[in-house]
Amino acid sequence: MVIVRSIDELQEAKQALAGTIGFVPTMGALHQGHLSLIQRARKENDHLIVSIFVNPTQFLEGEDLDAYPRKDKADIKICDIAGVDILFMPSIEAMYEEDELCIGAPAIRGYVLEGEKRPGHFDGMLQVVMKLLNLSGASKAYFGKKDAQQLALIAQMVKNYFMDVSIVPCDIVRDEKGLALSSRNVYLEGDEKQRALALSRSLKKATKLVMAGEVDVETIQKEMRKVLEVTDEIEYTSIVDRAFKPLKTVEIGNTIILVAARVGKPRLLDNIWI
Ligand code: PAF
Repeated sequence: MVIVRSIDELQEAKQALAGTIGFVPTMGALHQGHLSLIQRARKENDHLIVSIFVNPTQFLEGEDLDAYPRKDKADIKICDIAGVDILFMPSIEAMYEEDELCIGAPAIRGYVLEGEKRPGHFDGMLQVVMKLLNLSGASKAYFGKKDAQQLALIAQMVKNYFMDVSIVPCDIVRDEKGLALSSRNVYLEGDEKQRALALSRSLKKATKLVMAGEVDVETIQKEMRKVLEVTDEIEYTSIVDRAFKPLKTVEIGNTIILVAARVGKPRLLDNIWI
């Protein structure tokens, strides 16, 4: 594995690769969820590039940019063992210049749910993902379904800008109790880890209702909110189609049920695709 930190080094390292490139962009603090993307990308491509870059433009004022977990040493080891060819770890200066041209999140889908709670977050996320996809030269890029809205917006960006890369959605990885893995889970303290399980439980409850024939979105969300009462703040529950349009009734095969709640310090997200 080669570790590269500048754009020139990346371009040079890519010249040694012949064949298809898979790409996994990350912000580091790698966990089993990232590893599942890396392993899948490893299998499906001749070569594999992973990036680790804590992108400042997708953090809002007052968010955890400075405190965001950084574990470079451990991450490098994980990538090396997983068979990554190029690990791209750029500096902020390598990625950004002053007064940049920016693309924005779409007016509706980019400003509901996460986009409403974190206005501007998706603009910065799309900005860096476009840069990273262009730099990687990958034919396939892998993203987790846990950030379902992020995934949908990236797929839309690729479509709207005729970018020559396939976006591969990958399943959510959970711990043995059902908590969806996230780098921000390290913020959970004391009983918060237990209370955080309410998110996946609320989704299980929703699934159970759907399996029992309930399709009314309001009824399902009311039941989810009961399960979520143990969290510190329910930010939203939402039931949308795969294009993120709100649904009145669940459509099997075209539905995503989402939840965001705060438990202690972190905002936690989870969802299930039905
Ligand atoms: O999901 C993430 O880790 C980040 O949003 C991403 C896609 C790497 C862009 O910074």
